[in-house]
Amino acid sequence: MSILLTGGTGYIGSHTAVELLNAGFDVILFDNLSNSEEEVVDKIEKITGKRPLFVKGDVCNQKDLANVFADAKNQGNPIEAVIHFAGYKAVGESVEKPLMYYDNNLVGAIRLLEEMKKANCNCLIFSSSATVYGEENIAPFTEDMKIGGCTNPYGQTKFMIEQILKDAAFADKELSIVALRYFNPIGAHSSGLLSEQPKGIPNNLMPYIVQVAKGKLPQLNVFGNDYPTKDGTGERDYIHVVDLATGHLAALKYALNHKGIEAINLGTGKATSVLEVVSAYEKATGIKIKYEIKPRRPGDIAVSYADAGKAKSLLGWTAQYNVEDACRDSNKAK
Ligand code: NAD
Ligand code: UD1
Repeated sequence: MSILLTGGTGYIGSHTAVELLNAGFDVILFDNLSNSEEEVVDKIEKITGKRPLFVKGDVCNQKDLANVFADAKNQGNPIEAVIHFAGYKAVGESVEKPLMYYDNNLVGAIRLLEEMKKANCNCLIFSSSATVYGEENIAPFTEDMKIGGCTNPYGQTKFMIEQILKDAAFADKELSIVALRYFNPIGAHSSGLLSEQPKGIPNNLMPYIVQVAKGKLPQLNVFGNDYPTKDGTGERDYIHVVDLATGHLAALKYALNHKGIEAINLGTGKATSVLEVVSAYEKATGIKIKYEIKPRRPGDIAVSYADAGKAKSLLGWTAQYNVEDACRDSNKAK
């Protein structure tokens, strides 16, 4: 049975490919390489001993998508399910270039749904985000909370795609869709071969700390220490990317045997402060992380963490790694 991973050479897609191959699925990576490199395919093969098929293509391009479904069918291994990672994800860039974000993320999702239907493929796992919980809800976030009110176009695309998927599943009872709401993915594969490769100066906490640890940046700027949290710094639910990948495997197995749509949080259920992440990194690596307290970053909320109960009850999945594990693995990555 083959599974199509759009955005499959990216950070989360590549880690998920490893878990799917190890579980015996045939994997097709479909990516336009706008934010990843084709050499990821070699690295996945090195880790798993199996080579996924790579197809260069764009999810906004109907022909590219039609071809990938047709080729798989002609080779006697039709695509049974799609995990849709492809999209743009930089929050700041989405504020500067909203049309580019709405175009790529929304059009890509719609084209994909259309081509899946034509190919009689009814099973979809979608990369959503905890950002859909917006600013009004109070953590721990549960899947039945009202979503929306995101502060940036990137977050809005996730909210809007979830709505599109809900409407599509209502209209077509054959569809089986799981929208996975990721909390804060961090870490890397323990081989050191796969990792997140942000272009330029990172915005997110963990890649920033990695660059401080490697001497590429002088210090970490901690955005605010006056939040109503345990030590005044922001608290997040950091989830190891390998846990996230096994969460996709569990969601895929669920979706292949159900119909309808579910939104499911992928988080650990634990909140960790910025200063706790700094300590965990120092403990895991022995490297001192220099930091300075700075003003709050606009758009940040004080606390975000998941209620991870639905993933456990519906998928039988819970996170296995902690923040220290993720720090150790992030530090290993080249
Ligand atoms: P990534 O940028 O590493 O991977 C996304 C991949 O999609 C890239 O390889 C890119 O080249 C590809 N892509 C982009 N537009 C495309 C298009 N039109 N056609 C084909 N390929 C295209 O990002 P990631 O961190 O692996 O994230 C994967 C998904 O998870 C994204 O949808 C992202 O929004 C979502 N997500 C990520 C995070 C996070 O913190 N990393 C958190 C929540 C949700
Ligand atoms: C950010 C995005 C969110 C996106 C997620 C992807 C914003 C406002 N939110 O979430 O939409 O889904 O990334 O993982 O951009 N911090 C510092 N110094 C830094 C960087 C971060 O102190 O240099 C702090 C932040 O204030 C926050 C925590 O670290 O408290 C985590 O930040 P980050 O990794 O950027 O993730 P989020 O803000 O949760």
